Amino acid sequence: MRIAVIGTGYVGLVTGVALSEIGHAVTCIDIDPKKVERLNQGEPTIYEPGLQELIQKNMANHRLAFTSKHKIGLEDAQVVYIAVGTPQRPDGSANLDYVEQAACDIAKNISRPVIVVIKSTVPVGTNFHIKRLINGATKDGIQIDIASNPEFLREGSAVEDTFNGNRIVIGTENPAAADILEEINRPFGIPILKTDLASSEMIKYASNAFLATKISFINEIANICEELGANVNEVARGMGLDHRIGSKFLKAGIGYGGSCFPKDTNALVQLAGNHDHEFNLLKSVIEVNNHQQVLLIDKILSRFGTLKGKKVAVLGLAFKPNTDDLRESPALVLIPKLAELGAEITAYDPIAVTNAEKRLDERVTYTENVTEALRGADCAVIVTDWEDIRRLDLSIYSRLMKRPIVFDGRNCYNLSKVKKSALEYYSIGRPSQIPELIQ
Ligand code: UDX
Repeated sequence: MRIAVIGTGYVGLVTGVALSEIGHAVTCIDIDPKKVERLNQGEPTIYEPGLQELIQKNMANHRLAFTSKHKIGLEDAQVVYIAVGTPQRPDGSANLDYVEQAACDIAKNISRPVIVVIKSTVPVGTNFHIKRLINGATKDGIQIDIASNPEFLREGSAVEDTFNGNRIVIGTENPAAADILEEINRPFGIPILKTDLASSEMIKYASNAFLATKISFINEIANICEELGANVNEVARGMGLDHRIGSKFLKAGIGYGGSCFPKDTNALVQLAGNHDHEFNLLKSVIEVNNHQQVLLIDKILSRFGTLKGKKVAVLGLAFKPNTDDLRESPALVLIPKLAELGAEITAYDPIAVTNAEKRLDERVTYTENVTEALRGADCAVIVTDWEDIRRLDLSIYSRLMKRPIVFDGRNCYNLSKVKKSALEYYSIGRPSQIPELIQ
């Protein structure tokens, strides 16, 4: 199949590369010529394990190309994927401007009937709207078909997820289009669910809302555990052994972030509201998450009283490990609050520093060296559970800091290990560890 993919963000780039890897001829289109230039040199524009190798391999095989010209990418395509962003509007709803722009570009540049596949996460009804938009604007009355094919990949393991996903969802109005998409996706060897357009669009929102609910649920349990002296890790383990519950997404912490959960939960609340449905459960999930992101501030304040002049090491900036993405990261909420309270902040992240410098307070000192962040600090705050932070020998905190006081937002360390160390340790949903001498 000759496939065009519009948008080379996380979803578009990984989708295009993966489709070329399973044998299709793919042209990825992006309006940003600088991005296209980098990609044409075989250099990925996002950090994603395994992606560079696949880009270079498939470019060399002449199955993958990049262009900033819609005409070049679309002229010959049989199937066109839309994988542009649907950012959040101030009222929480999804902004469809980029999807609509892509639709206009398709209408202007195709020279035959194509199947347009919407990968972007879009509100229920959008596929239908985009089909009408394109069909009303094509040259010579060319009529397209539309399919919804939501993306479930996670950042940091996007390539792995694309080849090993649990399901591929294809929503169409027309069984012939569904069959063609099934054929395109068959080489992935992943179970395919064919359904109608609206259900397919809803599957994406409902899946993300459910996962976010699991996280907020365990975070609430964690907060109650703290009051009752229980250990949320043990509780999650006990719950997860029940197959009906499952052990995944039950890791308590300082809340979810990223480009999907916050945006999609808000969009679903908004979408339900548009149909006079108050999605109270999901509203609470969002509220719990907002509270969770600043929880450590209260703990730090009750430990220190004031943060004026205190040196705080923030460990981790990205919203989760293995990505340099800062979108909706708890660090973006925590750091300004700490700075407001007068703390002198040195923030460490192995790869997200450049992104952080663009988005955060310039009073913060950034480093890619954990030792530098910890040296002379009054306390350390763990925001991202990077492998190198998890693996730190706990004695490093005592060796480098003024006093080894750690607020761990990701429950990185085993409590029995902490007990044997000199750490004063506050985590999420687990008993605090305070060495006897300080008590
Ligand atoms: C998510 C979905 O997993 C994916 O299917 C969808 O396509 C996009 O959104 P992603 O945002 O890349 O993927 O990250 P994910 O690994 O799901 O983590 C999201 C957030 O939840 C992170 O901030 C993570 O730290 C947090 N999280 C995850 C928890 O706090 N606890 C958990 O148990 C799991």
